[in-house]
Amino acid sequence: METTTTTIDVHLEPDWWRTTLEQDVRNGLTAENKSIPAKWFYDELGSQLFDQITKLDEYYPFRAEREILRDYSSEIVEAAGADTLVELGSGTSEKSRVLLDAMAKANMLKRYVPFDVSEEMLRTAAGDISRDYPGVEIGGVVGDFDRHIPLVPIGGTGMVAFLGSTIGNFPPASRTRFIADVASALDSGGTFLLGTDLVKEPERLWAAYNDADGVTAAFNLNLLTMLNRELNADFDLDHFEHAADWDAENEWVDIRIRSTAAQQVCVKDLGLEIDFAEGEELHTEISAKFHLDGIASELADAGMTVVKQWTDSNDDFGMTLARKE
Ligand code: SAH
Ligand code: TRP
Repeated sequence: METTTTTIDVHLEPDWWRTTLEQDVRNGLTAENKSIPAKWFYDELGSQLFDQITKLDEYYPFRAEREILRDYSSEIVEAAGADTLVELGSGTSEKSRVLLDAMAKANMLKRYVPFDVSEEMLRTAAGDISRDYPGVEIGGVVGDFDRHIPLVPIGGTGMVAFLGSTIGNFPPASRTRFIADVASALDSGGTFLLGTDLVKEPERLWAAYNDADGVTAAFNLNLLTMLNRELNADFDLDHFEHAADWDAENEWVDIRIRSTAAQQVCVKDLGLEIDFAEGEELHTEISAKFHLDGIASELADAGMTVVKQWTDSNDDFGMTLARKE
């Protein structure tokens, strides 16, 4: 019987979750323009709701990216020539499988490295992959994009995949730093596979973040439920609403939670009383949309050269493979 090794490196300190949550919420709610960082969306219910978002008629990016992976994974894998796949923000590792299959078929697959902030999800995913891909070495990493990319063991012929247009969720300055971190982590010849949603008609962009069934609204507002549970806050969900609009100048969808009344919220564990004016917004996420040439130039600025770019049949979504010089 073939023996496989699975290791999971946890780079988050044991109290990281609590300490960082408290710090992020204190800073975010006491700032003049209130905000909560997007990484807190993915608790258990949040991850389930995100999964439901990917199945919505309005949420085309998931299906468009899957189509590209299905149609071009052999080509991608051949162009990359990688024996290791690293997926950043791997979640359930569902999309990695398409790439892993193509690598296995080409007899190139040696190692898989999922990276996510959510330890439980990563352990489950790593276990499933090790069962389904016997003989593949798995080296999972539990870490934060903001701090731990330099610690990811990529190796000489690794391909780092960052899918789902998650890169669009970084504010511009963090995005530049993130791309630079990935470039530094790659050895010369290593590759970066980046999935990005593309700029298109505002109506379709709007609908993708304002679905008729309210799943996206539930996903966004779940942040408040999480704060009520974890920090003993008393956000009244009846007096907050989801808001998402296309910002044409910045080319991103701007996602907020809006207070529908003048109200005070108590966050007991932090000893905070926070006032919300009627109509005041709490910023939760941006989802930037891209142009293929813009991505190429952002990657070039970090020392990566585009090997090839692919789109789905409707040109909704882009996939870029770039190589570190
Ligand atoms: N790659 C999957 C999942 C995307 S959801 C797909 O394309 O469908 C985004 C994933 O990124 C979640 O699994 C979430 O836990 C992870 N994530 C979000 N913020 C993170 C951070 N700061 N560091 C590491 N992982 C993060
Ligand atoms: N990466 C996804 C995106 O930007 C995440 C996402 C989908 C999301 N729908 C959302 C984030 C709604 C916040 C709110 O498309």
